[in-house]
Amino acid sequence: MSDFTSNFWNLYIVILTVAALLFCVWILAVVGKREEKAASKTTHVWDGDLTEYNNPLPNWWRGLFWALLIFSVGYLIYYPGLGSFKGLGGWSQVGQFDQEMRALEAKTKPMYDGFLAMSAEDLSKDQKAMGTAERIFQNECARCHGSDARGAIGFKNLRSGAWNWGGSPAEIEESIAEGRTGVMLPMGEALGGSDGVQSVVAYVRALSGLPHDANLVAQGEVLFDENCTSCHGNDARGMKEIGAPDLTDSDWDYGSSEKAMAKIVEFGHNSELEEGAFAMPAHKGVLSTGQIHLLTSYVWGLTNK
Ligand code: HEC
Ligand code: HEC
Repeated sequence: MSDFTSNFWNLYIVILTVAALLFCVWILAVVGKREEKAASKTTHVWDGDLTEYNNPLPNWWRGLFWALLIFSVGYLIYYPGLGSFKGLGGWSQVGQFDQEMRALEAKTKPMYDGFLAMSAEDLSKDQKAMGTAERIFQNECARCHGSDARGAIGFKNLRSGAWNWGGSPAEIEESIAEGRTGVMLPMGEALGGSDGVQSVVAYVRALSGLPHDANLVAQGEVLFDENCTSCHGNDARGMKEIGAPDLTDSDWDYGSSEKAMAKIVEFGHNSELEEGAFAMPAHKGVLSTGQIHLLTSYVWGLTNK
């Protein structure tokens, strides 16, 4: 907004507010006095003997009105309200919010300091702490990982025990604090089109004991060794440094049907480039270290009873 327009709206509000207050003063003073003088019957008569009187307003009512007017002037001097005038009291919405947040933090700090002093293993056995963790999980994590933490297609199931980035407390803590972005490249071209994709999928399905076309496995293995081991490892058990999943287990982040597997192999998944492809966001600016440690214990505890 330019200086002129912001100043215009500022003046507009100041003038309107002051004018409204003066108008009220005028009504009370002038009209009130005239009413006193004119206390009389009006000419309105109904049913023969019902007459409308023109009595002045009761004093307590007018006194209340004056008190409200004086209050509003005081309010506008102390609090912000008159255009961009900030008021003499130094109050602001943001200031009040900060103050309340600081009070809440001061209140919960000893509790979180206590959590930080405990290992994830011990903390995951603390019922009360896990109740708090569950609430934070529902607020911050459930929209992607589901309220039961079982995830959905593309959103990691946190109860499967198959970790792309590692399942130790330290690794889970890093996933939550720093975020994770796994990049599965589109391999359709490198595999020479859909025939190559079909055979490599048959090979991967054979590895994990899923129904597959046995005639394609030998060719699929050759293609896999050439194209996939650099990320998924020679034994296809994945590489947690880059979040490449183990392809020999029964946990499938993108679905276990032949069609779903062919799709991710052909087109890949790259949340840095694709719209609608999700990564794990970093939470270190959103949650305190204490909260992240508590969530780590909670997530770790889901698969380590
Ligand atoms: C915007 C959606 C989103 C939110 C919110 C989110 N996650 Fe994630 N999370 C993901 C995705 C997607 C992945 C998989 C990332 C990858 O491997 O590329 C993931 C991965 C993870 C991993 C690593 C799993 C592995 O296999 O190693 C952990 C642990 C995790 N999330 C925990 C959490 C917790 C705890 C919260 C709440 C503080 C949370 N996530 C909030 C989307 C989300
Ligand atoms: C650049 C490294 C890289 C290469 C090369 C690569 N992958 Fe991946 N792959 C990944 C990563 C990382 C993921 C996890 C993606 C995510 O979570 O967003 C993944 C996911 C997958 C998945 C989905 C697993 C699931 O749990 O649903 C399949 C299947 C897969 N890859 C097969 C292959 C095959 C077959 C090849 C070779 C043709 C291949 N990948 C080559 C890195 C790679």
